[in-house]
Amino acid sequence: MSYASYENEFQGKRALVTGGTQGMGLAIVKRLAGAGATVLTSARNIPPNYNIPNVHLVQADVTKPEGTATLVEAVKEKLGGIDILINTVGGSSAPSGGALALTEDHWLEELNMNLLGSVRLDRNLLPFMVEYRKGVIIHVSSIQRSLPLYESTLAYAAAKAALTTYSKGLSNEFAPKGIRVNTIAPGFIQTEAANRLIDRLATTAGSHEAALEQLMDSLGGIPYGRPGLPEEVAELAAFLASDRSASINGSEYVIDGGTIPTV
Ligand SMILES: NC(=O)c1ccc[n+]([C@@H]2O[C@H](COP(=O)([O-])OP(=O)(O)OC[C@H]3O[C@@H](n4cnc5c(N)ncnc54)[C@H](OP(=O)(O)O)[C@@H]3O)[C@@H](O)[C@H]2O)c1
Repeated sequence: MSYASYENEFQGKRALVTGGTQGMGLAIVKRLAGAGATVLTSARNIPPNYNIPNVHLVQADVTKPEGTATLVEAVKEKLGGIDILINTVGGSSAPSGGALALTEDHWLEELNMNLLGSVRLDRNLLPFMVEYRKGVIIHVSSIQRSLPLYESTLAYAAAKAALTTYSKGLSNEFAPKGIRVNTIAPGFIQTEAANRLIDRLATTAGSHEAALEQLMDSLGGIPYGRPGLPEEVAELAAFLASDRSASINGSEYVIDGGTIPTV
């Protein structure tokens, strides 16, 4: 096998990347489309000037079954099938205050956002991959699945742990059918949302540098000295989506600058 040139390695590939208007999802969309893939992506809001060559953007909320149905239709209409599915959407909107501040609704919201959205899309799109005995699924989990921050994101951490375990089970079942399933677990990644948080914290911390340090300290520090970049996560996703990782299945790749202090 030669890896001499993989500039166009996704030529002819059809990919669905959820949450592709911001952050890691946007970086992954650009990375795959830039290497020749036709990409379908989704978000709840359509930014007015979103225009990336080879990329179709569809309005769909992946936490709702109707959103899944919209995306499955779009996969058929705009891609005519699917080779790569990257479930990027996730996040937390639960309040701070510890475990007892979380209501039934908060738990259901976090599970929908970080587990069930991916489960629904996988269930609906796996049959297309099974038919051709080829496909790649990637789930974006979090280092919080093994390093839970209980103050404000315990339900998120638990949902991501479930996503990682689910991903492993799926990989065992579908690898014999030609489909690889892997997980990416990012640590602190400096997305636009993180930048906005740093801006807000800077007003009390005194400077951007102090605010960034405060955020990194809240994780117990980042040995590499800085957060990751969305483009670095996209590079890992591209590798895992490509044939260069042909025998990698059922694995979780942590990208956190060394934040998790144990093996
Ligand atoms: N950033 C970090 O430091 C970090 C660390 C560990 C893990 N992660 C995980 O990495 C993934 C990406 O995070 P990110 O920080 O890059 O995200 P982000 O910057 O907040 O971007 C989220 C993207 O997903 C879309 N989206 C959000 N909710 C959606 C929904 N219900 N249905 C459809 N689209 C939706 C957003 O568009 P709309 O808002 O318009 O829908 C946007 O395009 C998430 O799974 C997150 O949990 C992030």
